[in-house]
Amino acid sequence: MHSNGPAHQKLAIVMVGLPARGKSYTARRIERYLSWLGYKTRVFNVGQYRRARVGAQVPHGFFDPHNPEGAEARRLVAIEALDDMLDWLGGNGHVGIYDATNSSVERRALVRTRCEQAGLQVLFVEMQCDDPAIVENNIRATKLSSPDYENVDEKSAVEDFRRRIEHYILAYEPVSESEGAYLRVSGAGRNITVSQVDGYLHGRLVFFLMNLHLVDRPILLTRHGESMYNVVDRIGGDSDLSPDGQRYARALAGFVDERFPDHSELAIWTSSLRRAVHTAGILGRRSMPWRALDEINAGICDGMTYEQIKEAMPNEFTARSRDKFRYRYPRGESYEDVIARLDTVIIELERTRRPVLVVAHQAVLRAIYAYFHNIPPEQCTRLQIPLHTVIHLQPHAYGCEEERIPLAV
Ligand code: F6P
Repeated sequence: MHSNGPAHQKLAIVMVGLPARGKSYTARRIERYLSWLGYKTRVFNVGQYRRARVGAQVPHGFFDPHNPEGAEARRLVAIEALDDMLDWLGGNGHVGIYDATNSSVERRALVRTRCEQAGLQVLFVEMQCDDPAIVENNIRATKLSSPDYENVDEKSAVEDFRRRIEHYILAYEPVSESEGAYLRVSGAGRNITVSQVDGYLHGRLVFFLMNLHLVDRPILLTRHGESMYNVVDRIGGDSDLSPDGQRYARALAGFVDERFPDHSELAIWTSSLRRAVHTAGILGRRSMPWRALDEINAGICDGMTYEQIKEAMPNEFTARSRDKFRYRYPRGESYEDVIARLDTVIIELERTRRPVLVVAHQAVLRAIYAYFHNIPPEQCTRLQIPLHTVIHLQPHAYGCEEERIPLAV
């Protein structure tokens, strides 16, 4: 499944919870994270199947558990989505995320039985939220723009959605221990309860969800200033900044002072390599070096130019051009290896509520950038991360905005 980890059983993540509790948001975040880690992951959203089969605009009474036609129509679309997920997992998918309310014990038993018969491990992820302000906010932020309420005035849409939630409350039974492995997120995302979670992937998910929050803050990425090795096109090494590199660090200091005059407002992380530490040093602020941010290890090619590698080790050069993502430098690393060691950095970036400036290197920043933009990891190896440019990322609930700021040296 993933060349860096142990073999895993395929996994069905089954979302649970009332409407407007952040299920789809969480499902998408899990999808992005696991895809970045190399697992083929896909969300199957039952709402989309319902819209395709019975149309987007159905009155709230459709969701009333005492309405037999509505209940039967909802059961059919739920099964259709489940069948598609099982088909996909029977092929080359690794992790399916079944995004529906799954709010009754009976429905969850059906889903679980079908998944287990297909040889899948099952994990329920239940989203609970009793804070009316957050629910109201979710309704306004996501439901009003849904096709379910296209051309419906705001007041009627909110009112209809509230009634829809009330129908679900009648049928809602929280997950209990007798239902197998589950992970419950409650208290506005701050409390995580786990039961019977087992294995590596479950563990990663607990850790990931523990650190998610909804505070919007920018992440700024920059390569170190030009190094002496950059000047002569050598890769790797631990050389210091060139005169232009030092000028970039000073320009970066001006940029950072202008945007973040309060020093405590911005966290600064660097790799442990001289060119990155020195760049951050010129900013005159506290920074934290991380080995996990060091540049891809070029092994026996460290310190060479691409031309020299091509001449002295043509087979290595060709192998890398063929599959740059999986190619591992002899005694060094591949991009896939880099992603595995950046996992802790991503979790820490998710956890941090302050803006963060990451001063690192080309390959490492390609991998981090791919995470925020939800770019398949194999495609990260040729992304443009130029020197002397700040990449300002503003991740949002459903995407990431970007501004590139080249700084003149
Ligand atoms: O050339 C600068 C550099 O950071 C090297 O140290 C590193 O080996 C390389 O970029 C990574 O880029 P690529 O994967 O395209 O060779």
